[in-house]
Amino acid sequence: IEAYAQELKAALHQYPNFPQKGILFEDFLPIFRKPDLFQKLIDALVIHLKETFAENNIDFIVGLESRGFLFGPSLALALGVGFIPIRKPGKLPGELVTAAYTKEYGDDSMEMQKEAIPANSNVVIVDDIIATGGSASAAGSLVKQVKANILEYCFILELDFLKGKQKLDAPVFTLLSGQQEALKH
Ligand code: PRP
Ligand code: MG
Repeated sequence: IEAYAQELKAALHQYPNFPQKGILFEDFLPIFRKPDLFQKLIDALVIHLKETFAENNIDFIVGLESRGFLFGPSLALALGVGFIPIRKPGKLPGELVTAAYTKEYGDDSMEMQKEAIPANSNVVIVDDIIATGGSASAAGSLVKQVKANILEYCFILELDFLKGKQKLDAPVFTLLSGQQEALKH
């Protein structure tokens, strides 16, 4: 898993001052351009989850729109479990659970279909990156509203200096080590 992580990390592309001045954007899309790297990303996550939750069966991978959709379904398929999408508001039909969260500019919310996850299911929540932790903690709230158990929050990357993990009340795993500081000007 460490060898895979190093190779994956080398594929990331950094864009300074995107989408705003002072932000160093970590682009993980190059991983998906090469099937061998994409496969290594999924394999590394499968190895980690199988090692960590050998006893505790994972029932669902829950992924956040949009970047969590790029690898969440592939991970679920590799594990042989279902994939549940959490979407931005107004996109999902049927009875929904909703959670509000705060972004840098203004508030937003996320939705999940109520019937998607039976009570007491064990889920892993996945996304590309944890920054402030607002998105992940809203996702956690949706999973708790349907009375499922969060085994873990699983990310590819983390911005350590924002301390987003402190907002989460289940174990947090990050595959690639995080960016330590914001850009300095
Ligand atoms: C980005 C990223 C995470 C979230 C992390 O998503 O993909 O989901 O922000 O930030 P946080 O920890 O401060 O909540 P974004 O909302 O920009 O949308 P996208 O996935 O559709 O690009
Ligand atoms: Mg996102």
